[in-house]
Formats: sequence, C-alpha cells, structure tokens
Amino acid sequence: MPSKAVLGCVWGDEAKAKIVDVLADTADIIVRFQGGNNAGHTIRLNNERYVFHLIPSGILYPDKICVLGAGVVIDPFMLIDEMESLEKRGVSFAGRFFIDPRASVVLPLHRDLDGKAEADEKQTKIGTTRRGIGPCYADAVARIGVRMGDLFDRDYLTQRLQNIYRYHQIEQAPSESFIQELMVVGQRFNGYLKQIPYFLNDQYEAGKEILFEGAQGSLLDVTFGSYPFVTSSHVVSGGIAIGAGFSPKRIDNIVGVYKSYCTRVGAGPFPTELDDAVGDRIRQQGNEYGSTTGRPRRCGWFDAVAAKFTAMVNGVDEIALTLLDVFSGFDIIRICTQYRIDGVITREFPSDAKKLSQVEPQYLDLPGWQENITGIRDYNSLPRNAKEYINTVEQLLNRPITIISVGPDREQTIRRSGK
Ligand code: IMO
Ligand code: MG
Repeated sequence: MPSKAVLGCVWGDEAKAKIVDVLADTADIIVRFQGGNNAGHTIRLNNERYVFHLIPSGILYPDKICVLGAGVVIDPFMLIDEMESLEKRGVSFAGRFFIDPRASVVLPLHRDLDGKAEADEKQTKIGTTRRGIGPCYADAVARIGVRMGDLFDRDYLTQRLQNIYRYHQIEQAPSESFIQELMVVGQRFNGYLKQIPYFLNDQYEAGKEILFEGAQGSLLDVTFGSYPFVTSSHVVSGGIAIGAGFSPKRIDNIVGVYKSYCTRVGAGPFPTELDDAVGDRIRQQGNEYGSTTGRPRRCGWFDAVAAKFTAMVNGVDEIALTLLDVFSGFDIIRICTQYRIDGVITREFPSDAKKLSQVEPQYLDLPGWQENITGIRDYNSLPRNAKEYINTVEQLLNRPITIISVGPDREQTIRRSGK
C-alpha cells in the first residue's frame, strides 16, 4: 500500500504508537499531521521505553524519514529537548527529519493562556494537557499566529509578535531577549524545514510508502468529538489532507486503532466509565496512567456506539485492537451496543456533550478468559472467549480486525492477513 493512516478512534491513548511501530516496518516516511506535544506516544523496543510527544515514533528505525506537517503545532523549545534526548540515545536527525514551515509555533504565552483558562473557576474545565495547544490553534485560525518559517527573519518575527501581543492585550512589547531566544531556537531547525506537500506527493508518485501517524483520538476531534471536551485539532482522517497537504484521494488505507476497553483523560462525558473496582482493575492491569501528564486515566467498557461512529467518520478500512491482554482473568467482559437517552434507545452517537452525559449504556455481556495471552502470536491459539470477543467487535463495527496487540512490545502482535 503506498499510503496508510494509523488513527486513534476513541479518546486517545489507544496504543497508536505501537501500531505505527509495527506498520512502519515497510514504510519509507512517517508523518504527523495534527496535534502537538499534548500527545504521548510510547514505544518499547529492546527493553527500553521511548515516549514521543512531537517526533513521529518511526524515528527509531534508522532508515525512515519522519515529518511534521503544516497542521502540527510546535513548541520549538520542547522539540529541541525531545530531539536532544533522542540524540543522546543514538537517534540521528540530519537528512531524515523535516518540518513544514507552515507549522504553527506554540509560544510561552499559549502555555500561560492554557494554564490560566484551566485554573479559572468560572470557565468550563477541559482538563487539557496545559501545553498551549488550544490557544495556539485559536491564534492560527485568527490569523495572528507565528509559524516555523517566521523564525528566520527578525523584522517579520518582531512584527508578528507585536500583533499577537496586541491581540492578547499584553501591554509590554515583546522583549529583544525573547525575540533573540526565538531566533536562536529557530536556527536549530535550519536545514529541517521543507515544503511537505511537494515532498510527500513527489515521494508518493515515486512509489514510496507513506504512513500517517494520528495523535489523540477521534472523540477528541475539534468538530466531531465530545465538544467542548476535545482537543483543538482535526483528529479524524480528513485532518490528514488539511494537515499534510496531501489529497484525501491518495490515502489508500485507513487503520483505526481501538482499545479493547475505553479510557479517557481530562474532563467530559464518558458513557461506559466504570467508577468502581472493575475500573480500578482495568487501570491497574492496563497501567492506565498518562504518558504526557501522569494523570490516572478514567477507564470503562468498550463502547460500540462511539466506535461505530468514529469508524464511519474516518472511513476505517481495518481495525487494530489493542491491549486485549488486559482482560485476562476477567469473568465477564461487557460491550456497550446501544444507548438509552431520556428513555429512548439509540445507536447514534449524540452530537452534544450534554446528551452524551445523559446516556445510559446498554450492554452485551461476554464470557472472559483466564489464560495469559501475552505470549500468543497467532489468532488460532487465542482462548475461545478471546476470539469470541474479537469476532463480536468485528461484527458490531462491520470491519475486519487485522491486528491484535497482546502486549507493549513490537513482537507481541497478532496479524490476521487475508481478513
Ligand atoms: P495521544 O496522542 C489522550 C486530551 C486532554 C484533554 C483534551 C484537550 O497520546 O493519544 P489539549 O491539551 O489537547 O488541549 O487537551 O484532550 N488529550 C489527550 N488524551 N491522549 C492524547 O494524546 C491527548 N491529547 C490531548 O486530556 O481532555
Ligand atoms: Mg497518550
């Protein structure tokens, strides 16, 4: 397949990076197209743990090219930190890491605004990662943002900063030392900036395989997610075209990543949330603590109503089902198959958070399994009830599950080709 997308289809943290890592094997180029360092993509390789926030996780393959598209918001200071810490571990960037000059710069003022909004008792608390993501995207849309390509021209950068300060009613002018600091950090990206739309389309035409690495999950999409409890970017597959300058007609295969259960960090409705010992058990067995903020994740059963909605909106071709091993030892595993809202049964995911918060989930109960499945590598060797669980999800979503993850390592993966 010349191009492929790996997209989180729930509320983020679906173990996308692990699936990207597995599929990157045959890819030539790995592309982030939205989000920023609010993402936390964890990979375990040779008993070492790597957490990526901005850099595509494909960077661990020494022969792959990694790209940040125009739709990504970049905190340049954080990106330098991330690059340096990877360089210390032997990763090289020269000639294989490129950034679109159109990508927006997350400024310290964006982080401040994010933190202030979260701390303001009178505002709806989103529970953001406080990385300045929302304010940065808002400024980009308001046309007052600073972009990566602006960091190389002092006069233009000064003018852009003056604009943004005025817009936010910051009294003092941007200081010379701050402008200098931004110019210095900008210089570090000299040689990394590239017109990504030309690059990706040329490479595609040359037969190279391109892999798009989604961040966050569809239910956090700024438009189709549980608004306003969402992130500020276009997370769904349409975001690839917008964020990379790559036609939707050229996205050949869309892999939707679904966890075997649901998790959510931050505030907002979560119909299948388990506020009990079962939820605690999933959190414990799944090690469900945020890799960006360390927050304990809220845990609940698989929600097939939400999952079907995101499979539709993304146009998911095939599914990667992750963290199936977490369910070993459960007697009963539940799947939400429909919602009851105000006494009415529906299979539609509501368009607003208020309705979503009123959902009474209706469950299908499936028998669990006791066996540890982390060592299993082929589908047929899975316990019968694990297969039944997989088949049920597959039927509910009407899409093939072609990848099943039974542990964090690259090898702990079951592939089902011919599905
Ligand atoms: P990965 O890529 C899970 C959530 C935050 C908050 C909301 C808005 O690791 O799956 P933001 O800082 O983006 O303005 O916060 O979105 N959120 C994520 N939740 N995984 C992520 O990324 C997330 N990135 C943002 O917790 O609820
Ligand atoms: Mg994460």
